[in-house]
Amino acid sequence: MKSKQILIKFLGYYKKRGHKLIPNVSLVPENDSTLLYVNSGMFPLVPYLSGETHPLGKRLMNVQRALRFFEDIDNIGITNRHTTAFHMLGNWSIGEYFKKEQLNWVYEFYIEIIGLDPSRMYASVFAGDEYSPKDTESIDLLKKIFSKYGIEAKENERIFPYGREDNWWQRGDAPGELGGPDSEVFYYLGEGTGIGLNPAEHQDEFLEIGNSVFMQYRRTNDGGWNELPQKNVDFGGGLERIALISQRKKDIFQTDNFWPIIQKLEKLTGVSYNKDGKTKKAMSIIADHMRASTLLVMDGVIPSNKDQGYLLRRLIRRMVRAGKTLQLNENISVNLVSSVIEIEVLNYLYPELKNNISQIQQVFSDEEDKFRTTFEKGSNVVHKYLTNLQTVNENQVAESAFSFYESLGYPLEIFLEDIKDTNLNLDVIKVESIYNVLFKQHRDLSRKGAEQKFKGGLADHSDQVIKYHTATHLLDMALRNILGNHVTQQGSNISKDRLRFDFSHQNKLTSDEITKIESLVNETIKTDLPVNFILLPMDEAEKSGALHFFKEKYGDIVKFIISEKV
Ligand code: SER
Repeated sequence: MKSKQILIKFLGYYKKRGHKLIPNVSLVPENDSTLLYVNSGMFPLVPYLSGETHPLGKRLMNVQRALRFFEDIDNIGITNRHTTAFHMLGNWSIGEYFKKEQLNWVYEFYIEIIGLDPSRMYASVFAGDEYSPKDTESIDLLKKIFSKYGIEAKENERIFPYGREDNWWQRGDAPGELGGPDSEVFYYLGEGTGIGLNPAEHQDEFLEIGNSVFMQYRRTNDGGWNELPQKNVDFGGGLERIALISQRKKDIFQTDNFWPIIQKLEKLTGVSYNKDGKTKKAMSIIADHMRASTLLVMDGVIPSNKDQGYLLRRLIRRMVRAGKTLQLNENISVNLVSSVIEIEVLNYLYPELKNNISQIQQVFSDEEDKFRTTFEKGSNVVHKYLTNLQTVNENQVAESAFSFYESLGYPLEIFLEDIKDTNLNLDVIKVESIYNVLFKQHRDLSRKGAEQKFKGGLADHSDQVIKYHTATHLLDMALRNILGNHVTQQGSNISKDRLRFDFSHQNKLTSDEITKIESLVNETIKTDLPVNFILLPMDEAEKSGALHFFKEKYGDIVKFIISEKV
């Protein structure tokens, strides 16, 4: 089945069961400076899983773009399943239905709607520990579900209890994070049905295609877990992985989610994807990174040396490097944007991509050109250095890496990949840490801010952040008041230390305008208006003249903030 069809069927299946669609939000987390990128479908749901009322009710569904950058970047083209960007199909019970409905629906959807073979399906459940008991309820439910399809599902044969490392889901490790035991669906990819094999011991032969998280705990300050007042369900299934199985492909890059890019690469190089391992790996890296980078650019990211801009920069650089293996030495990313847009499911989810093609190409071509000069100068020098190394010593190699960076601008991460490809017996992690010490010594750069971002954590609902959030609304009001109604918000990012507000206006602000805007915001704050909210349908809220910044990010019902003079 085509990916678009899988997606439509998923949404149709859950719509029939009372679920409302919530928007697919940007990869760049809004109002959460603790996360560098959206890494799961649950990102927009954290407040509701914690107990806040969602305007659309208790049964929700989404298809959410997500990144697993640091988690998976080194696996691309090495395994048959890892990608940096993917789409998570999700259904959510906000303190309503629980295990019985959830498990029945997942298997019914996969088997009866998508047509997957139940004899190749396996399940895992939580084995239990000091915080949460063994999930015997799910085991009983799963036995009944499998028996509906004529399968006797025995524990440790079809249903596997695993510990916390495998069968517990939490987004991050910070106090306040939500988590819970989960039940994963595995699909056997080998010959036969796979019976007698344990998925945890045969990871290459099984593919995890869905995870039902029974989210019912909150992380405490001392690293334990307390029960939440409500029991939630968070289901996530990777669309691209489901497509791999449904389309009976050997790897994820041969599904319709990547194939138009691979085909274009075959055309540009005159070489088949399946020619050899090196070609396959290089083409997979480029296909993966093109898709991820296009989504990042669509979400307003520009290559830079920090935050999301740095991720994008790394993806583009890695494409340039992989392109060299294929003897593609110019305009790789620019030439491939149109193939990304040919991917049916992307076209369906992001119709705006088509209209922005030339802007996207411009971002790629600027960055690729900039890096190509550095790369072309540096890669031969580095290649010679690595192939002529007499002794293998991490200290010395790290020092050389630093000097290549200082003299040629050759980036460490590309150098580390060169080491891996040269098959030298070097500890790459050690080289990287020595390099980092050298870098710190030389530059004395405080990386605290950036490191914070990598930790992961709960969306911040502290008083300070709430104040900044209100302040963005005041700022928007003041900007429109002073500059005119053409001003629209283009983005916003709030942390506990500051707020950032991007907006469109044709000129640089004059100092007089800035003073006026500041005074208007400050005067409004001083009037100390009460702030309340009611839930209203979007069209009614619109009729009232309410401002909303990103229309598509609200559902049909909106949280309408009222504040009036008393
Ligand atoms: N949160 C779970 C995951 O990302 C299920 O959606 O795997």
